[in-house]
Amino acid sequence: MMSGMSRRGFLKAIAAGGSLIGSPGLAGTSWRIRGSDRGDLRLVFYTDIHADGTAETSHALAMAAMAINAQRADLVLCGGDLIAGGASLRPEQAAPRWDAYMDMVRAIEAEHHAVIGNHDLVGVRPSDGSDALADPRRDFKQRLGLRQSHGTFDALGYRFILLDSLRVSDDTHQYHGWVSSEQIAWLRELLSSIHAATPIVLVLHMPLLTSFFGATRGATFEAPPNRVVINNTEVLKLFADHNLILVLQGHLHVTEALHWRGTTFLTGGAVCGNWWNGAYFETAEGFNSITLRGDRIDWDYVDYGWTARAEDR
Ligand SMILES: [Fe+2]
Repeated sequence: MMSGMSRRGFLKAIAAGGSLIGSPGLAGTSWRIRGSDRGDLRLVFYTDIHADGTAETSHALAMAAMAINAQRADLVLCGGDLIAGGASLRPEQAAPRWDAYMDMVRAIEAEHHAVIGNHDLVGVRPSDGSDALADPRRDFKQRLGLRQSHGTFDALGYRFILLDSLRVSDDTHQYHGWVSSEQIAWLRELLSSIHAATPIVLVLHMPLLTSFFGATRGATFEAPPNRVVINNTEVLKLFADHNLILVLQGHLHVTEALHWRGTTFLTGGAVCGNWWNGAYFETAEGFNSITLRGDRIDWDYVDYGWTARAEDR
């Protein structure tokens, strides 16, 4: 099963890489929640890896895995875009990228869960003109050992829900942020079995709520359909009578924290920063360190110390 490097080799590969934590992380924040009374739960949320199989970025992934392990988290959650550019590749072309990403996953010591990102849809429109893959989620599911691209689990009194936030589109965007009607029905049934006070954490790739476009393009700019979940209010309404404490989302490559009607929304930056070309809107290559406590959530963004080569910027 092990492709590319062994786990030991993978970790040894970073031995000459210098310190793990380079510049300080962004200032942390803390908000009140109604958490579990069964103790603190430490999470790492990392997203937007964009593994491309090159030696340079594979080295970065080894550094990130080691920095994630240093957090001693109970759970490690991944927000998608595990590989780069799957949509235009045939599966055999995407395979080295999956190999590079899975080396990172195998190096992570804590329990690990991932959601699918738009770049993880493989063979949607192969650039060589070959036929589209019948199931563009096939490689994601196979590599992560999943039957389906959404799921749920419990940890220490918290309920985690992982969503597939994508649909393939025929327009120029090629995909939209969207939670399917099948998942909406599944969510409705799932929530009917969850106590109203149970703290819930939702993980998905496309943002359910963000201020990014207002902040960068102007207050009246409308977010494009390939940048946010179009049916976000339909999803959020499902949780109206539940204790949704945290939404972990990716895709935008910036760090952002919003608090809306009792829910904290964290946009998780990116392991690859500005697509491996440095920081993006001052968000360095990094990941999120989160602690869920009985009465609050603590959050910080950790720069794992990788620096893009100057000539790439
Ligand atoms: Fe994305």
